[in-house]
Amino acid sequence: MTLELLPIVENIDSQVLESSDGPQGHNRSVYIETYGCQMNVADSELVGSILNEAGFVISSRAENADIILLNTCAVREHAEERVIGRVAQLNALRAQRPNLTIGILGCMAQHLSETLTERAPFVDIAMGPDSYRRLPNLLAQSSDDALLDVRLNKSENYIGLTPIRREGTNAWVTIIRGCDKFCTFCIVPYVRGRERSIDPIDIVSQIESVVSEGYKEVTLLGQTVNSYKHMNVGFAQLLREIAKVNGLERLRFTSPYPVDFSDDVIMAMSELNCVCPSIHLPVQSGSEAQLRSMRRGYTVDDFRRLVDKLRNTIPDIAISTDIITGFCGETEKDFRETCKLMEEIQFDFAFMFKYSAREGTFAFKKMTDDVTEEIKGQRLQHIIKLQEQISLEKNMKFLGNTYPVLIEGKSKRKGKDGKERCFGKTPHNKTTVIPESVPANTIVNITVDRCTSHTLYGRLN
Ligand code: 5AD
Repeated sequence: MTLELLPIVENIDSQVLESSDGPQGHNRSVYIETYGCQMNVADSELVGSILNEAGFVISSRAENADIILLNTCAVREHAEERVIGRVAQLNALRAQRPNLTIGILGCMAQHLSETLTERAPFVDIAMGPDSYRRLPNLLAQSSDDALLDVRLNKSENYIGLTPIRREGTNAWVTIIRGCDKFCTFCIVPYVRGRERSIDPIDIVSQIESVVSEGYKEVTLLGQTVNSYKHMNVGFAQLLREIAKVNGLERLRFTSPYPVDFSDDVIMAMSELNCVCPSIHLPVQSGSEAQLRSMRRGYTVDDFRRLVDKLRNTIPDIAISTDIITGFCGETEKDFRETCKLMEEIQFDFAFMFKYSAREGTFAFKKMTDDVTEEIKGQRLQHIIKLQEQISLEKNMKFLGNTYPVLIEGKSKRKGKDGKERCFGKTPHNKTTVIPESVPANTIVNITVDRCTSHTLYGRLN
């Protein structure tokens, strides 16, 4: 099993899933390419499992496949444009393979639904994130028209399926699907439907099984992962239950919603040894007025207090964030407040985006996308530069210290001496590169001797 990583563009990466042959069946081969967030990566692993069980063979190359599926993202327009371009490129394969099926799965299929076939005329099937169990049936149908299945289903949790996981050191485990927050800029609730939490018994047994397969690290996933609630089990209790799994060394979760970050969760994080001291906490803006018009449900001060609590309870915690520039009505003053908050909080790193109006959202319908592309771009460049400095300063604090690093594999780039290097992550989720060769999925102690704003460099202790 191999995984190819294509270049990361704006936090959107595309990944390729490959598996062993499925049981007997029609043996048509399927190639799956994934765009967007980690939930899409996890969903592609589910789709791989559904298709494998139905007798499809998962292929690692688009060129050899009978069916090509793109699991897509709708969060920004750029993500959709990228997929439309990719579909046109893949369509060229039809010259050699006239029976090729091209399908679009996930958020973009749900978002564009009927208009998708106009925007991407080469698509044969489109399927939203709650319909994957019906994918084998859809692929068995033949039609001259594009086939569409975009029914959202509040009870679809994909329980009982064992995802075909990418080979690696981290197992993604979805614990909550959908989103109920309805931030005014965000398409997610419309394309992924309402929040639904998965039974803790199923979650714990999935984690027991991945740990017995050899995974040392698990990342719990949800659009608002800490909103988890199943009957009377909340997120803190879930963490405590999962921490009892023997052999689980590292537990992470992403992304939490600031409003739902209870003291109980912070306590659980500090008490449980396996929970890593790192957190991705999207702030979006440092302006009170912008947070209100985004309907984030917290003030700048609420966010500050939450960060203080996290840092007081887990002193070395690494905190990262998401920031949007140029949302509707963002003034120079609003923008300066965001810069000020970034300077004050000192995030370890940030994903930063220009606002992209998404049809169907409240902001699209009721607000004006009034910041010009030029200003959005300038503001984005400004905060990227600012964050680079902050990230560098943060990383410099790691110099001279020793950390357990979970080795993930060979580094893409060789060292200056032309030799291969390995990379892995510290508990703080900092990518760390070493010159020594260490097998993947091993935890080794590394002393950090150099850093950039993105990476730590060190040596085996
Ligand atoms: N435009 C730009 N960025 C967006 N995000 C979500 N919706 C939009 C949008 N319409 C960003 C937010 C979120 C991250 C996953 O993507 O920062 O946290």
